[in-house]
Amino acid sequence: MNRVYIKTYGCQMNERDSDAVAALLRGRGYTIINDEKEADIILLNTCSVRDQAEQKAIGKAGHLLRRKRKNQKFVVGVMGCMAQNRGQDLLDSLPDLDLVVGTQKFHQVPDHLDNIIATLNGQGPKPSPLVDLEEEEDSQNTIRDHNLESRQVSAFVSIMQGCNMNCTYCIVPTTRGRERARPIPHILKEVEELAANGTREVTLLGQIVTSYGRREIPFKDGKSPFVQLLEQVSEIEGIERIRFTSPHPRGFKQDLIEAYSRLPKLCPYVHLPLQSGSQKILKAMKRPYSPERFKQIVDDLRAQVPGVTFSTDIIVGFPGETDEDFEQTRALFEAVAFEMAFIFKYSERPNTEAEGMSEQVSQEVKEQRNQILLDILHKNSLKHNESLIGTIQQVLVEAPARKGEGCFAGRTPGYRKAIFPASERLIGELVPVKIERATTSSVFGSLVLSGVEEPTQELTPLEALAN
Ligand code: 5AD
Ligand code: SF4
Repeated sequence: MNRVYIKTYGCQMNERDSDAVAALLRGRGYTIINDEKEADIILLNTCSVRDQAEQKAIGKAGHLLRRKRKNQKFVVGVMGCMAQNRGQDLLDSLPDLDLVVGTQKFHQVPDHLDNIIATLNGQGPKPSPLVDLEEEEDSQNTIRDHNLESRQVSAFVSIMQGCNMNCTYCIVPTTRGRERARPIPHILKEVEELAANGTREVTLLGQIVTSYGRREIPFKDGKSPFVQLLEQVSEIEGIERIRFTSPHPRGFKQDLIEAYSRLPKLCPYVHLPLQSGSQKILKAMKRPYSPERFKQIVDDLRAQVPGVTFSTDIIVGFPGETDEDFEQTRALFEAVAFEMAFIFKYSERPNTEAEGMSEQVSQEVKEQRNQILLDILHKNSLKHNESLIGTIQQVLVEAPARKGEGCFAGRTPGYRKAIFPASERLIGELVPVKIERATTSSVFGSLVLSGVEEPTQELTPLEALAN
């Protein structure tokens, strides 16, 4: 009666929240399993960013509740953003849910499950659904537990919750609440514990990490709280690589750009959401930067950080996006030559400022624009990956590769997936890999033995083109 399967939709924050819930449940004697067919309890950790993500989770929950009809002791819960967004209304369409838990209440899941199971095991009346969606002070400090029984070579660390921006398309400020930072010492303690348990790479997570601690922690020697945090995480022994996501172009200032030259553990990979290349659309989205400023940040980083790679988020078909606006996005997208990107078709979200805006873009036009950017992306990803052929990349070995007997997978500093023959004992090691072959999504190579050759710096796509 205590086997739990957690299915996660959406972003890395959700992955991290699910992982923390799993760690807490393990501590309570529950068993976390990977096969949902074997589960006594299924929890869906949901996403609300686009309607499609909500529909997927609702469909899944409906399906699970049919299984519950045959077995009343089977427990189904919905957690996270969609639970927060739809709240009590979720029970109109899914009245048999056992549990609905909001984004500030993940840490209460073990108590709630204990209660539900105790009621189910008693002979009392059928329990009514347990709904817990309140705001909770300090809830940002409750996402800290990891499963330390197994080693995570690369781990996520949540440094803050919420977002105070008001991007007009975005539901996140509603589902995640106002910005709340975790104190630096708490974050350092968590990273130290991870390092002691074999973690070599941490990714610091927040909806808007460049705003980290702006209200709580003063600037020091011109350095923002986020840069101060990066410096201190850098000092932790055993951590070899630091990544973060997502920064906001508005907060990507000189102090952060300079941090790359001072902090060798900071990986040369930046996920910097652009959303649109049209000034008019950025304004309508309430994104407070210009396309020129965005390009400037990219150019500055490329000039100062050897081999830096970029990924981004783009929304196509925001209301009022004309062919001309899209052409500006396309041109900037092409000019920056992102190595990776997430391209989304605009999805109208309830209670956002953009809801009901006039000049909606048709689905057909969204599809076309999406495809145009995808084609550019594939071309650029492949060109970049091919530019790595013949170079030697330092790869952090993470796990056996899904395909390829005896092959292992890891990431280059620039976050390209690298696959190569290796052995189990190299998991968690940084190893030199000579790149021999490339596809749009991965590079393939072989280990360089005994350090005869020095790792080569990654070429930026522009340098690669020039060669
Ligand atoms: N429609 C489409 N994409 C969206 N995103 C956020 N809100 C929406 C929406 N309403 C995208 C943004 C953001 C990413 C996480 O999801 O690009 O950066
Ligand atoms: Fe949403 Fe904008 Fe905040 Fe990102 S910065 S979470 S897109 S409101």
